[in-house]
Amino acid sequence: MNELMVLGIESSCDETSVALLKGESSILGHSILSQDVHRIYGGVVPELAARAHLPVLDDVVRSALEPSGTSLSQVDALGVTAGPGLVGALLVGVCWAKAAAYALDRPLVPVHHMEAHLFAPSLEDPEAQPPFVALLVSGGHTLLLHAEEWGRYRLLGETRDDAAGEAFDKVAKTLGLPYPGGPSVEKAARKGDPARHPFPRPMLHRNQSPDDPAYCDVSFSGLKTAVAVRVEELRAEGRLEAERAHVAAAFQEAAIDTLVSKTLRGVEATGCTRVLLGGGVSANRALREEMGRRLGSGGRVFLASPRLSMDNGAMIARAAAFRLSLGETAEPELNADASLPFPGLERRSA
Ligand code: KG4
Ligand code: ZN
Repeated sequence: MNELMVLGIESSCDETSVALLKGESSILGHSILSQDVHRIYGGVVPELAARAHLPVLDDVVRSALEPSGTSLSQVDALGVTAGPGLVGALLVGVCWAKAAAYALDRPLVPVHHMEAHLFAPSLEDPEAQPPFVALLVSGGHTLLLHAEEWGRYRLLGETRDDAAGEAFDKVAKTLGLPYPGGPSVEKAARKGDPARHPFPRPMLHRNQSPDDPAYCDVSFSGLKTAVAVRVEELRAEGRLEAERAHVAAAFQEAAIDTLVSKTLRGVEATGCTRVLLGGGVSANRALREEMGRRLGSGGRVFLASPRLSMDNGAMIARAAAFRLSLGETAEPELNADASLPFPGLERRSA
């Protein structure tokens, strides 16, 4: 079989990334450039993110092609994140990809960023294929879904408010820990004792029946507020410095307990014991370990390496190759869509 070479382009948030993928899993070149400018503000500033993609995208493409000595004209197809994400940031990738596809006369495939996260583990593990229950946890989304096959997904649960990554980022800011928040909280938590600050487990003690529409939903705003209140108390008492790592550990434990418990409800509801973790938060080692431990030897957890758990062009190329195999290509008027609907996702009727 003649394996297609697909160039995947990702610019939905604060990573500019491009990969050249041959076939389903052979990554011939891959560059991920993380923007540093947001560090000064303690979070991603959308306008700055968009501007920072622009001057580097050409060079990121070049460095993805370089290792294999491939020229742009040898690429068979291009895939680009068309949404969801920050609209200005998305537009940079979409405009670049549209221009290149037109100039090269190659198909352009619009990719849904969260569907691409589902494909990331399969780049490293050929067995990371449906059926699986997937927990997708990123800065903008928290979704629990059942994938019966590629392209056919059923929503089991989602967040009622903040995304899991957003909660990590906001808690990091509250605690005065540096951007990016998730890795900072994880690092601080390693030195902390979670038992010192018992925080609530949102939506675990209510919504306990599988008939309840919120059975697999999560919510992080109450937990985030509980952390903020505790941090204010500790600050007033002059104990914040001493307790920071303990608060980080307690928040992380509560968030992970919630995510793992809800995933296990999804496993029980579907009878599917194959679990896939995707999105930036899935780089969290404590989450990875806890999921494996609680799923036990009767199940399997599929994970991407930390590099492929974060936003990257390789997963975009992989998702594009799949969509292209279904004959899906972009219309010339393709636009970035900050709230692009998840393709093939059947939502609950409740
Ligand atoms: O998937 P991703 O790279 O970008 C989006 O699609 O949003 O996810 C980014 C999110 C951020 O909120 C970041 O703080 C979080 O993933 N994250 C983590 C860790 N590494 C990244 N959260 C917890 N622990 C980590 N080690
Ligand atoms: Zn992402």
